[in-house]
Amino acid sequence: MRLDKFLTECGLGSRREVKEILRTGEITVNGIIANNPQMNIKENSDEVFYQEKKLEYKKFRYYILNKKAGYITAVEDNSEQTVMELLPDWVIKKDLVPVGRLDKDTEGLLLLTNDGALNHKLLSPKSHVEKTYYADLEKDILEDDLTKLRNGLDIGGYITMPAKASKVDSNKIHLTIKEGKFHQVKKMLEAVGNKVVFLKRISFGKLNLDNLELGEVKEINSEDII
Ligand code: URA
Repeated sequence: MRLDKFLTECGLGSRREVKEILRTGEITVNGIIANNPQMNIKENSDEVFYQEKKLEYKKFRYYILNKKAGYITAVEDNSEQTVMELLPDWVIKKDLVPVGRLDKDTEGLLLLTNDGALNHKLLSPKSHVEKTYYADLEKDILEDDLTKLRNGLDIGGYITMPAKASKVDSNKIHLTIKEGKFHQVKKMLEAVGNKVVFLKRISFGKLNLDNLELGEVKEINSEDII
């Protein structure tokens, strides 16, 4: 692989920007300063360093973010803050997109990747990836409401698939759904005459928040997802 392509895919910048970096002499390949963008390197075995940091080549990257409320799930927006603004500098942003969407006021686990095929697969209606939410509700939840949530209910022309629902406290629940309709959790609670006042996604497939603080990001492997 060409050195400039390697550096671009490691997130150092555009082809033009990495050419500039190469001119500074801050890139070494196997301990020798490399200036030539066209140099051919073995991306999986050559040791490439930038400012004493070893660069690791990965075609696809996967990150989880514990999203804060107040940020919209989009790559860019003219008026709102986006989840991309929560990502620290070390995250490689090239082609990175969120998988699915959390509402602006929802917190919790958001997966981001540049792996378009996996993104597509996870979002496909057939994929049935389990997503678990914690919700604080305006009113106490009844046993009968939990049964309705579990069996599936009409959220405005759509009958939800069977779900898992359990009471955490009188007005707090865990709800696990296998779909991702627009505002689905909020609509399901509305359908039983209640209202979500706080919502947080705590797991997505095999992923969970573990000890990830609010606003924090972690790089993960694709095998950890489903
Ligand atoms: N369901 C909702 O209503 N909102 C979210 O952000 C996610 C699931």
